[in-house]
Amino acid sequence: MNHYAGMTRTSGKANLVCDLRSDTLTAPDEGMRAAMAAAEVGDDVYGEDPTVNRLEAEMASRLGKEAGIFVSSGTQSNLVAMMAHCGRGDEIIVGNGYHIYCDEAGGPAVLAGISPCPVATGADGGISPETVAGAIKDDDPHYARSRLLCLENTTDGKAVPIEKMQAAAQVAREHGLSVHLDGARFFNAVTALGCDAKDLARVFDTVSVCLSKGLGTPIGSVLVGDAATIAKARRHRKILGGGMRQVGVLAAAGLHALEHNIAGLAEDHARAAHLASTLQDLDAGDVETGTNMVFFSPAPEHHAALRSHMAEAGVLIGGQSPAIRMVLHRDVDDTALDRAVSAFSSYYQNQ
Ligand SMILES: Cc1ncc(COP(=O)(O)O)c(C=O)c1O
Repeated sequence: MNHYAGMTRTSGKANLVCDLRSDTLTAPDEGMRAAMAAAEVGDDVYGEDPTVNRLEAEMASRLGKEAGIFVSSGTQSNLVAMMAHCGRGDEIIVGNGYHIYCDEAGGPAVLAGISPCPVATGADGGISPETVAGAIKDDDPHYARSRLLCLENTTDGKAVPIEKMQAAAQVAREHGLSVHLDGARFFNAVTALGCDAKDLARVFDTVSVCLSKGLGTPIGSVLVGDAATIAKARRHRKILGGGMRQVGVLAAAGLHALEHNIAGLAEDHARAAHLASTLQDLDAGDVETGTNMVFFSPAPEHHAALRSHMAEAGVLIGGQSPAIRMVLHRDVDDTALDRAVSAFSSYYQNQ
Protein backbone atom coordinates (compact mmCIF):
# COMPACT_ATOMS: atom_id res chain seq x y z
CA MET A 1 0.00 0.00 0.00
CA ASN A 2 1.34 3.40 -0.94
CA HIS A 3 -0.67 6.06 0.89
CA TYR A 4 0.50 8.80 -1.45
CA ALA A 5 -0.49 6.96 -4.64
CA GLY A 6 -3.98 5.74 -3.67
CA MET A 7 -5.84 5.37 -6.95
CA THR A 8 -3.20 4.43 -9.51
CA ARG A 9 -2.88 5.62 -13.07
CA THR A 10 -3.83 2.20 -14.32
CA SER A 11 -6.92 2.07 -12.13
CA GLY A 12 -8.00 5.44 -13.55
CA LYS A 13 -9.47 5.67 -17.03
CA ALA A 14 -7.30 6.17 -20.07
CA ASN A 15 -8.85 9.66 -20.20
CA LEU A 16 -6.60 10.97 -17.41
CA VAL A 17 -6.52 14.77 -17.61
CA CYS A 18 -5.61 15.86 -14.12
CA ASP A 19 -3.35 14.05 -11.67
CA LEU A 20 -3.54 15.79 -8.31
CA ARG A 21 -1.83 13.09 -6.25
CA SER A 22 1.56 14.80 -6.15
CA ASP A 23 3.83 17.35 -7.77
CA THR A 24 6.31 14.50 -8.31
CA LEU A 25 4.14 13.30 -11.20
CA THR A 26 5.22 15.91 -13.74
CA ALA A 27 6.76 14.79 -17.03
CA PRO A 28 9.70 16.74 -18.49
CA ASP A 29 8.50 19.14 -21.17
CA GLU A 30 10.07 19.58 -24.61
CA GLY A 31 12.44 22.33 -23.55
CA MET A 32 13.70 20.25 -20.64
CA ARG A 33 14.15 17.17 -22.84
CA ALA A 34 16.09 19.24 -25.37
CA ALA A 35 18.36 20.57 -22.62
CA MET A 36 18.93 17.02 -21.38
CA ALA A 37 19.75 15.74 -24.86
CA ALA A 38 22.25 18.54 -25.44
CA ALA A 39 24.01 18.22 -22.06
CA GLU A 40 27.78 18.03 -21.93
CA VAL A 41 28.75 15.12 -19.66
CA GLY A 42 31.70 13.55 -17.85
CA ASP A 43 32.26 11.20 -14.92
CA ASP A 44 30.69 12.93 -11.92
CA VAL A 45 32.39 10.66 -9.37
CA TYR A 46 35.65 12.06 -10.78
CA GLY A 47 34.14 15.54 -10.47
CA GLU A 48 34.37 15.81 -14.26
CA ASP A 49 30.77 16.30 -15.32
CA PRO A 50 30.64 19.98 -16.29
CA THR A 51 26.84 20.13 -16.24
CA VAL A 52 26.61 18.64 -12.74
CA ASN A 53 29.32 21.03 -11.59
CA ARG A 54 27.36 23.94 -13.03
CA LEU A 55 24.13 22.83 -11.36
CA GLU A 56 25.82 22.43 -7.97
CA ALA A 57 27.46 25.86 -8.26
CA GLU A 58 24.25 27.50 -9.50
CA MET A 59 22.12 26.16 -6.63
CA ALA A 60 24.79 27.08 -4.07
CA SER A 61 25.03 30.59 -5.47
CA ARG A 62 21.26 31.13 -5.57
CA LEU A 63 21.04 30.12 -1.90
CA GLY A 64 24.19 32.02 -0.87
CA LYS A 65 26.13 28.91 0.15
CA GLU A 66 29.69 27.82 -0.66
CA ALA A 67 29.03 24.45 -2.26
CA GLY A 68 26.43 21.99 -3.44
CA ILE A 69 26.10 18.31 -4.24
CA PHE A 70 23.71 16.72 -6.73
CA VAL A 71 22.00 13.59 -5.41
CA SER A 72 19.33 11.25 -6.65
CA SER A 73 16.49 12.16 -4.31
CA GLY A 74 15.27 14.31 -1.45
CA THR A 75 15.57 11.34 0.87
CA GLN A 76 19.22 10.82 -0.04
CA SER A 77 19.90 14.52 0.24
CA ASN A 78 18.47 14.69 3.77
CA LEU A 79 20.33 11.51 4.74
CA VAL A 80 23.77 12.64 3.53
CA ALA A 81 23.16 15.97 5.29
CA MET A 82 22.33 14.21 8.57
CA MET A 83 25.37 11.94 8.17
CA ALA A 84 27.58 14.97 7.50
CA HIS A 85 26.36 16.73 10.65
CA CYS A 86 26.02 13.74 13.00
CA GLY A 87 27.94 10.67 14.10
CA ARG A 88 26.59 7.38 15.43
CA GLY A 89 24.78 7.92 18.73
CA ASP A 90 23.87 11.48 17.84
CA GLU A 91 20.29 12.69 17.78
CA ILE A 92 18.30 14.91 15.48
CA ILE A 93 15.39 17.02 16.71
CA VAL A 94 12.69 16.91 14.05
CA GLY A 95 9.00 17.74 13.70
CA ASN A 96 6.83 14.73 14.44
CA GLY A 97 5.00 15.14 11.12
CA TYR A 98 8.02 15.99 8.99
CA HIS A 99 9.09 13.86 6.05
CA ILE A 100 12.49 13.04 7.58
CA TYR A 101 10.77 11.44 10.56
CA CYS A 102 7.66 9.94 8.95
CA ASP A 103 8.45 9.15 5.36
CA GLU A 104 12.10 8.22 4.94
CA ALA A 105 11.80 4.66 6.23
CA GLY A 106 13.84 5.36 9.38
CA GLY A 107 16.95 5.79 7.22
CA PRO A 108 19.00 7.86 9.70
CA ALA A 109 18.62 5.11 12.35
CA VAL A 110 18.92 2.18 9.94
CA LEU A 111 21.96 3.39 8.04
CA ALA A 112 23.71 5.95 10.21
CA GLY A 113 23.01 5.19 13.89
CA ILE A 114 21.28 8.55 14.25
CA SER A 115 18.23 8.57 16.52
CA PRO A 116 15.32 10.91 15.97
CA CYS A 117 13.77 13.02 18.71
CA PRO A 118 10.36 13.90 17.23
CA VAL A 119 8.73 17.05 18.61
CA ALA A 120 5.39 18.82 18.18
CA THR A 121 4.95 21.39 15.46
CA GLY A 122 2.68 24.43 15.69
CA ALA A 123 -0.34 25.27 13.57
CA ASP A 124 1.96 27.10 11.15
CA GLY A 125 4.08 23.97 10.69
CA GLY A 126 7.10 25.39 12.50
CA ILE A 127 8.75 24.32 15.77
CA SER A 128 8.72 26.85 18.61
CA PRO A 129 12.00 27.88 20.28
CA GLU A 130 10.63 26.58 23.60
CA THR A 131 10.00 23.17 22.05
CA VAL A 132 13.53 23.08 20.66
CA ALA A 133 14.97 24.11 24.02
CA GLY A 134 12.92 21.44 25.81
CA ALA A 135 14.14 18.71 23.46
CA ILE A 136 17.87 19.44 23.71
CA LYS A 137 19.43 16.95 26.11
CA ASP A 138 22.03 17.58 28.77
CA ASP A 139 25.47 16.11 28.30
CA ASP A 140 24.79 12.89 30.21
CA PRO A 141 25.96 9.40 29.27
CA HIS A 142 22.37 8.19 29.51
CA TYR A 143 21.30 10.36 26.60
CA ALA A 144 21.91 10.48 22.90
CA ARG A 145 23.84 13.62 21.94
CA SER A 146 21.57 16.35 20.58
CA ARG A 147 23.40 17.39 17.44
CA LEU A 148 21.10 18.67 14.69
CA LEU A 149 17.78 20.46 14.35
CA CYS A 150 15.90 19.46 11.18
CA LEU A 151 13.21 21.84 9.96
CA GLU A 152 10.94 21.61 6.90
CA ASN A 153 9.67 24.36 4.59
CA THR A 154 7.20 24.16 2.99
CA THR A 155 5.62 21.65 5.30
CA ASP A 156 2.25 20.17 4.30
CA GLY A 157 2.00 23.09 1.92
CA LYS A 158 2.54 25.69 4.63
CA ALA A 159 5.24 28.27 4.10
CA VAL A 160 6.71 28.82 7.57
CA PRO A 161 7.80 32.44 8.15
CA ILE A 162 11.54 33.09 8.24
CA GLU A 163 11.38 34.66 11.72
CA LYS A 164 9.77 31.49 13.10
CA MET A 165 12.51 29.32 11.62
CA GLN A 166 15.17 31.77 12.79
CA ALA A 167 13.91 31.67 16.39
CA ALA A 168 14.08 27.86 16.46
CA ALA A 169 17.49 27.82 14.76
CA GLN A 170 18.91 30.35 17.22
CA VAL A 171 18.08 28.21 20.25
CA ALA A 172 19.64 25.20 18.54
CA ARG A 173 22.83 27.12 17.77
CA GLU A 174 23.09 28.47 21.33
CA HIS A 175 23.32 24.83 22.41
CA GLY A 176 25.91 23.91 19.78
CA LEU A 177 23.55 22.18 17.35
CA SER A 178 23.63 22.68 13.59
CA VAL A 179 20.46 23.30 11.60
CA HIS A 180 19.30 21.57 8.42
CA LEU A 181 16.34 22.46 6.23
CA ASP A 182 14.41 19.86 4.28
CA GLY A 183 13.51 22.29 1.53
CA ALA A 184 11.97 19.74 -0.80
CA ARG A 185 9.70 22.59 -1.90
CA PHE A 186 12.13 25.39 -1.03
CA PHE A 187 11.16 27.57 -4.00
CA ASN A 188 7.45 27.19 -3.18
CA ALA A 189 8.31 28.58 0.27
CA VAL A 190 10.35 31.43 -1.20
CA THR A 191 7.53 32.23 -3.63
CA ALA A 192 4.87 32.25 -0.91
CA LEU A 193 7.00 34.23 1.57
CA GLY A 194 7.96 36.71 -1.14
CA CYS A 195 11.57 36.64 0.01
CA ASP A 196 14.92 36.12 -1.67
CA ALA A 197 16.18 32.52 -1.68
CA LYS A 198 19.26 33.68 0.25
CA ASP A 199 17.12 35.21 3.03
CA LEU A 200 15.52 31.87 3.80
CA ALA A 201 18.65 29.77 3.23
CA ARG A 202 20.73 31.98 5.55
CA VAL A 203 18.91 30.53 8.57
CA PHE A 204 20.36 27.05 7.95
CA ASP A 205 23.74 25.35 7.77
CA THR A 206 22.51 23.02 5.04
CA VAL A 207 19.49 23.12 2.75
CA SER A 208 18.15 20.28 0.62
CA VAL A 209 16.21 21.38 -2.46
CA CYS A 210 14.24 18.95 -4.65
CA LEU A 211 14.20 19.50 -8.40
CA SER A 212 11.71 16.72 -9.04
CA LYS A 213 8.66 18.25 -7.38
CA GLY A 214 7.16 21.59 -8.44
CA LEU A 215 10.23 22.34 -10.54
CA GLY A 216 9.37 19.44 -12.81
CA THR A 217 12.55 17.40 -13.36
CA PRO A 218 12.44 13.59 -13.55
CA ILE A 219 14.94 13.16 -10.71
CA GLY A 220 17.32 14.90 -8.39
CA SER A 221 17.95 17.13 -5.42
CA VAL A 222 20.80 19.44 -4.51
CA LEU A 223 22.16 19.79 -0.97
CA VAL A 224 23.95 23.07 -0.28
CA GLY A 225 26.07 24.28 2.62
CA ASP A 226 29.64 25.21 3.50
CA ALA A 227 32.41 23.49 1.54
CA ALA A 228 33.58 21.27 4.40
CA THR A 229 30.11 19.91 5.15
CA ILE A 230 29.38 19.27 1.49
CA ALA A 231 32.71 17.42 1.15
CA LYS A 232 31.57 15.14 3.99
CA ALA A 233 28.19 14.70 2.29
CA ARG A 234 30.02 13.66 -0.90
CA ARG A 235 31.79 10.87 1.00
CA HIS A 236 28.47 9.73 2.49
CA ARG A 237 26.79 9.78 -0.91
CA LYS A 238 29.53 7.37 -2.07
CA ILE A 239 28.99 5.14 0.98
CA LEU A 240 25.29 4.97 0.16
CA GLY A 241 26.03 3.92 -3.41
CA GLY A 242 24.83 7.27 -4.68
CA GLY A 243 27.89 8.19 -6.75
CA MET A 244 26.70 8.81 -10.31
CA ARG A 245 28.60 8.97 -13.57
CA GLN A 246 27.50 10.84 -16.74
CA VAL A 247 24.52 12.43 -15.05
CA GLY A 248 24.91 15.78 -16.76
CA VAL A 249 21.84 14.63 -18.70
CA LEU A 250 19.92 14.80 -15.42
CA ALA A 251 21.63 17.91 -14.08
CA ALA A 252 20.73 19.70 -17.33
CA ALA A 253 17.07 19.18 -16.44
CA GLY A 254 17.77 20.82 -13.07
CA LEU A 255 19.51 23.82 -14.63
CA HIS A 256 16.63 24.17 -17.09
CA ALA A 257 14.14 24.04 -14.20
CA LEU A 258 15.98 26.71 -12.20
CA GLU A 259 15.99 29.00 -15.20
CA HIS A 260 12.46 28.40 -16.47
CA ASN A 261 10.20 26.80 -13.88
CA ILE A 262 10.42 28.84 -10.68
CA ALA A 263 8.14 31.62 -11.93
CA GLY A 264 5.33 29.12 -12.60
CA LEU A 265 5.12 28.10 -8.94
CA ALA A 266 2.98 31.18 -8.23
CA GLU A 267 0.43 29.88 -10.77
CA ASP A 268 0.33 26.52 -8.97
CA HIS A 269 -0.36 28.38 -5.72
CA ALA A 270 -3.16 30.40 -7.32
CA ARG A 271 -4.74 27.23 -8.73
CA ALA A 272 -4.54 25.58 -5.30
CA ALA A 273 -6.34 28.57 -3.78
CA HIS A 274 -9.02 28.33 -6.48
CA LEU A 275 -9.55 24.61 -5.88
CA ALA A 276 -9.73 25.20 -2.13
CA SER A 277 -12.34 27.93 -2.47
CA THR A 278 -14.44 25.69 -4.74
CA LEU A 279 -14.35 22.95 -2.12
CA GLN A 280 -15.16 25.42 0.65
CA ASP A 281 -18.22 26.56 -1.33
CA LEU A 282 -19.38 22.94 -1.60
CA ASP A 283 -19.32 22.80 2.22
CA ALA A 284 -18.64 19.06 2.14
CA GLY A 285 -15.77 18.81 4.58
CA ASP A 286 -12.86 20.64 6.14
CA VAL A 287 -10.52 22.34 3.65
CA GLU A 288 -6.99 23.57 4.31
CA THR A 289 -4.64 25.07 1.79
CA GLY A 290 -1.20 26.59 1.46
CA THR A 291 1.21 27.10 -1.48
CA ASN A 292 0.49 24.32 -4.01
CA MET A 293 -1.46 21.94 -1.73
CA VAL A 294 -5.08 21.45 -0.74
CA PHE A 295 -6.17 19.10 2.04
CA PHE A 296 -9.83 18.08 1.86
CA SER A 297 -11.53 15.91 4.50
CA PRO A 298 -14.80 14.54 3.14
CA ALA A 299 -17.06 12.48 5.38
CA PRO A 300 -15.49 9.01 5.71
CA GLU A 301 -18.29 7.28 3.78
CA HIS A 302 -17.55 9.46 0.72
CA HIS A 303 -13.84 8.70 0.38
CA ALA A 304 -13.95 5.67 -1.91
CA ALA A 305 -16.96 6.79 -3.95
CA LEU A 306 -15.51 10.25 -4.45
CA ARG A 307 -12.17 8.85 -5.62
CA SER A 308 -13.91 6.57 -8.12
CA HIS A 309 -16.14 9.39 -9.39
CA MET A 310 -13.11 11.64 -9.89
CA ALA A 311 -11.19 8.88 -11.69
CA GLU A 312 -14.17 8.34 -14.01
CA ALA A 313 -13.89 12.02 -14.88
CA GLY A 314 -10.15 11.67 -15.54
CA VAL A 315 -9.03 13.21 -12.24
CA LEU A 316 -6.81 11.31 -9.81
CA ILE A 317 -6.71 12.23 -6.12
CA GLY A 318 -4.67 10.65 -3.33
CA GLY A 319 -5.67 7.82 -1.04
CA GLN A 320 -4.96 9.52 2.27
CA SER A 321 -7.49 9.68 5.09
CA PRO A 322 -9.08 11.60 6.72
CA ALA A 323 -7.62 14.48 4.66
CA ILE A 324 -7.03 13.83 0.97
CA ARG A 325 -3.96 15.72 -0.20
CA MET A 326 -4.16 17.36 -3.61
CA VAL A 327 -1.12 18.99 -5.15
CA LEU A 328 -1.07 21.49 -7.99
CA HIS A 329 1.86 21.40 -10.39
CA ARG A 330 3.13 22.26 -13.88
CA ASP A 331 1.10 19.52 -15.56
CA VAL A 332 -2.20 20.81 -14.18
CA ASP A 333 -3.25 23.76 -16.33
CA ASP A 334 -6.52 25.70 -16.13
CA THR A 335 -8.34 23.18 -18.33
CA ALA A 336 -7.28 20.29 -16.12
CA LEU A 337 -8.22 22.25 -13.00
CA ASP A 338 -11.66 23.03 -14.45
CA ARG A 339 -12.15 19.31 -14.96
CA ALA A 340 -11.35 18.66 -11.30
CA VAL A 341 -13.61 21.47 -10.11
CA SER A 342 -16.57 20.25 -12.17
CA ALA A 343 -16.01 16.64 -11.12
CA PHE A 344 -16.13 17.64 -7.43
CA SER A 345 -19.25 19.72 -8.07
CA SER A 346 -21.06 16.96 -9.98
CA TYR A 347 -20.26 14.44 -7.24
CA TYR A 348 -21.82 16.57 -4.53
CA GLN A 349 -24.77 17.70 -6.69
CA ASN A 350 -25.76 14.04 -6.99
CA GLN A 351 -25.71 13.34 -3.24
C1 LIG B 1 8.97 17.42 2.48
C2 LIG B 1 9.66 16.34 1.70
N1 LIG B 1 10.94 16.05 1.98
C3 LIG B 1 11.61 15.09 1.34
C4 LIG B 1 11.01 14.36 0.34
C5 LIG B 1 11.78 13.23 -0.30
O1 LIG B 1 11.99 13.38 -1.65
P1 LIG B 1 12.23 12.10 -2.57
O2 LIG B 1 10.90 11.51 -2.85
O3 LIG B 1 12.89 12.68 -3.78
O4 LIG B 1 13.12 11.17 -1.83
C6 LIG B 1 9.68 14.61 0.01
C7 LIG B 1 9.01 13.82 -1.04
O5 LIG B 1 7.86 13.98 -1.34
C8 LIG B 1 8.97 15.62 0.71
O6 LIG B 1 7.69 15.90 0.46
